[in-house]
Amino acid sequence: MEKYRLLLTGNPGTEDVIAEEAMEELGAVKVVEIRRARGRVVVDAPGPLTLLTDRLLSMRSIHSAILLLAEASVGPRMNDLKEAVKSIMKSALPDFIPAGSTFAVRAERVGEGHEYTSMDIARLAGDAVVRACEERRGFRPEVRLNSPSIIIHASVVEDRFYAGILLTGERSRHRRRYRVYDHPAALKPTLAYVMLRLARAKDGDHIVDPMCGGGTVALEAAYLFEDSAITCMDKNPRHILGARMNAAAARVEGRIRFIVGDARRLHEVIGEASADVIVTNPPYGIRLGDPEAVRRLYRAFIPSLRLALSPGGRAAIITTESDYMIELARKAGLKLAHVRKVRHGDLWASIIVLERIE
Ligand SMILES: C[S@@+](CC[C@H](N)C(=O)[O-])C[C@H]1O[C@@H](n2cnc3c(N)ncnc32)[C@H](O)[C@@H]1O
Repeated sequence: MEKYRLLLTGNPGTEDVIAEEAMEELGAVKVVEIRRARGRVVVDAPGPLTLLTDRLLSMRSIHSAILLLAEASVGPRMNDLKEAVKSIMKSALPDFIPAGSTFAVRAERVGEGHEYTSMDIARLAGDAVVRACEERRGFRPEVRLNSPSIIIHASVVEDRFYAGILLTGERSRHRRRYRVYDHPAALKPTLAYVMLRLARAKDGDHIVDPMCGGGTVALEAAYLFEDSAITCMDKNPRHILGARMNAAAARVEGRIRFIVGDARRLHEVIGEASADVIVTNPPYGIRLGDPEAVRRLYRAFIPSLRLALSPGGRAAIITTESDYMIELARKAGLKLAHVRKVRHGDLWASIIVLERIE
């Protein structure tokens, strides 16, 4: 069986979920490497390559996928980078560049203490690709920064250099096509997917986001589950209108119930013990600028969330105020099933998973 090595990127803190989804969606045969807190996972997956590229498009946790063709250890100095980039010369990368094609290198540097920049990585990797094609294939590929036919991805993640061909296109996969309404504090859809998984949402569940903004969680749920009832609620009618627009763009409008309502009275609005899964992204203190207003909201919301959950039901909440939230959940009699830190934009936030025991 042909096997391909892939570098998958996604939200830092979600690497285990990316690896799990790769095993399921790609039939990946091996998780080769997990770079914890860096959002990088390397897997081996079966071909053929065209089928693999198709399967990648159904993954919901990743931002990009790179067909990994060159790898090397790398130190922090410029000479270390020059040495590591030589791995391109010996690799199969030039074989994937057809004669007459144009290419560009997109580079990233993740980690501290490197004496080189991502621009140095791009320049050195680009030179190596041109030289390798000249020496081994007998042609010189043309560099084109806009709309190249092939995008080479080169990165240094801490102490390792990776290079390969970007399979998922320039646009990060978290930019879903349905986002016609952009909520000012929108959640990354890839994180919404991870939260649904951590809450163990399954088809047929009633899934509720009581502070849904532009509807990211509801839309991811609608994509994943055909037979679930999905409720999307926000106190702000403007956001509910936006969520409806997004749902219409995703062609799932008819599968989601939209409510203008107050999360502090969730159990009254949707009914007691009516939600199997609640996944939500409430306002954070840092964004709102008033930590006490956020704490007031959480104090009223958590007891209502407990009443709205069915016994055995689970809730996943993302917040920077995790200690306070966990304390409130404990007081309300909810079990803390899981907690982890994830990177959301420029912040580290926590995903807290709570369970209603009885
Ligand atoms: C961080 S945003 C959610 C963004 C959403 N996850 C998205 O991707 O678009 C928080 C939302 O909570 C809503 N909200 C704040 N207090 C609320 C309350 N008491 N009841 C319902 N919604 C509330 C705000 O209107 C805002 O849209």
